[in-house]
Amino acid sequence: MQDNQEKAAASPVSSASGAPKKVFIKAYGCQMNVYDAARMADVMAPEGYGETAEMADADLVILNTCHIREKAAEKVYSELGRVRELKQARAAGGRPVEVVVAGCVAQAEGAEILRRAPAVDLVVGPQSYHRLPELVRRARAERLVDTDFPVEDKFDHLPRPSPERTRARGVSAFVTVQEGCDKFCSFCVVPYTRGAEVSRPVAKIIADARALADAGVREVTLIGQNVNAYHGLDEQGRPAALADLFEAVARIDGIARIRYSTSHPRDMDDALIAAHRDLPALAPYLHLPVQSGSDRILAAMNRKHGADDYRRIVERARAARPDIALSSDFIVGFPGETDADFEDTMRLARDVNFASAFFFKYSPRPGTPAASLTDQVPEEAKTERLAALQALLDEQRFAFNEATIGKTADVLFERPGRHPGQIVGKTPWLQTVQVDAPASLIGEIMPVLITGRGTNSLFGALPDRAVAAA
Ligand code: 5AD
Ligand code: SF4
Repeated sequence: MQDNQEKAAASPVSSASGAPKKVFIKAYGCQMNVYDAARMADVMAPEGYGETAEMADADLVILNTCHIREKAAEKVYSELGRVRELKQARAAGGRPVEVVVAGCVAQAEGAEILRRAPAVDLVVGPQSYHRLPELVRRARAERLVDTDFPVEDKFDHLPRPSPERTRARGVSAFVTVQEGCDKFCSFCVVPYTRGAEVSRPVAKIIADARALADAGVREVTLIGQNVNAYHGLDEQGRPAALADLFEAVARIDGIARIRYSTSHPRDMDDALIAAHRDLPALAPYLHLPVQSGSDRILAAMNRKHGADDYRRIVERARAARPDIALSSDFIVGFPGETDADFEDTMRLARDVNFASAFFFKYSPRPGTPAASLTDQVPEEAKTERLAALQALLDEQRFAFNEATIGKTADVLFERPGRHPGQIVGKTPWLQTVQVDAPASLIGEIMPVLITGRGTNSLFGALPDRAVAAA
């Protein structure tokens, strides 16, 4: 098998000033963009580029963009305005900056970005970033766009990061298991920007997860745009389901927790539900976007399921794992959504009782079927509905968090807290907990007594300290 271990750069590339070169990467949008950004850093490391968190320090700036809503896409252009100023200032100082736009805006807009943003040297799509070193070199001669869907698998060409780099990224890591989407929800750009659904083979995912575990990672989140449609081939060449993958990952020494995101209701099969009952390593958390509670709107969205189908899945999940935390994405103001449709969404949210949720105003995206519908909802109605839904879902989230106070939860400690002597971790239900405890516990899973809550996180204490303090 190909050895993907990162090669130490034989001679680090130097910038004009003589200092080693640095890359600054900013990821917008979903978890997969965060994952891809890390892999872009991995691919530039053997070229002698170290990472920097400061754009002003960088010789190479990569914006890994999101096209899901208009606001997300427009953010890129305002950032590119700032990048342009930096580029001009640095050119004057004799230390040039190269600028790359990657990700889904790159895929969707291609050469249009070069036209709109003169600072950009290279536009590269989500399936071509394994070629970054070569593309960056070529872009020095001529501004360049590469938004191909190449035949080769980018994962076969990405260097695996060293254990030190992996550990520095934390004890919880993403692994892409599936990419792209064939569902074509009528509002969504993903099938166009990320392409058709492709599942990675089981053996490659397990090799990635094992390397993470060997470097000290304790929790993996298996990610995909449609992760529960996973059907990668196993060693015998047979298609495996996501639940099979969970079992294989759970067998890896060191991996204590498994999460997955994002799922579609139509792919919630029995094996996946049963895994929530049978597999202790699988976190009791299900992010399952419903988008709307109205059957009429769900049909117009091309979701191919009804609101009651969703309620039944929730029932099955709760029967399998009574403490499972439910989470969803919602869109308000989809074309044609009436007050009655929106009321159906509120009713569904009340029926399910979510532990957390993400909610968005419908944003017409060029090239998607819903964008050309004539009955667009006025902005004021979208604003009102979003506020009402947010109030309900916030209330549900606070109640969920409130209910954990006084209980003991297993917390995976992930990083130092904001205050000295504090560390931050996650409960199985993906709640952030701040605890006064030594940094040496980062990477450990320990029982924590939940003592209170803030707006977005919980406070806890190691039980012996709680006892001592009582
Ligand atoms: N407008 C608003 N929200 C959208 N999403 C996807 N496309 C759009 C759009 N055009 C939301 C969906 C999806 C989440 C990732 O983003 O809720 O689940
Ligand atoms: Fe977009 Fe629908 Fe595919 Fe999710 S399932 S990525 S919302 S098209």
